[in-house]
Amino acid sequence: MRAQVKDADLAQAAREAAARSYSPYSRFAVGAALLTADGSVFTGCNVENSSYGLTLCAERAAVVAAVAAGHRRFAKLAVAGGARRAALPCGACLQVLAEFCGPDFPIVLTPLTAARRLRTRRLAQLLPRAFALRGHR
Ligand code: THU
Repeated sequence: MRAQVKDADLAQAAREAAARSYSPYSRFAVGAALLTADGSVFTGCNVENSSYGLTLCAERAAVVAAVAAGHRRFAKLAVAGGARRAALPCGACLQVLAEFCGPDFPIVLTPLTAARRLRTRRLAQLLPRAFALRGHR
């Protein structure tokens, strides 16, 4: 049986990814760590651009890295962002997660500095009505 990845370790991986954020415009670093069903972890950070709209969020960066490496089944996501209060994933990232993850998919939230207590939300709590094309999902 594969070793369980603890929430605290996934959150730590997300905070480490946030340290690699390229965010000179907003100065708002975000990191994400995505645990696959088979126990691999893929990380992402936000990557900004002087053409602001091209900015890529940390969560989508992690999903794209995992999918490009051949993974489509995910167990959990940790997101690190915000100083005092943990940042929530934006709607675009939630919609991208909904492409691969069900309503109960857990999202662990942590501020950039280690949280004493991690908060976990389900995908459907944050995005109750994801868009889906008819005949898909
Ligand atoms: N950001 C993320 O990386 N993930 C989110 O879910 C929301 C926002 C980034 C984008 C931008 O670089 C910075 O946070 C401020 O919006």
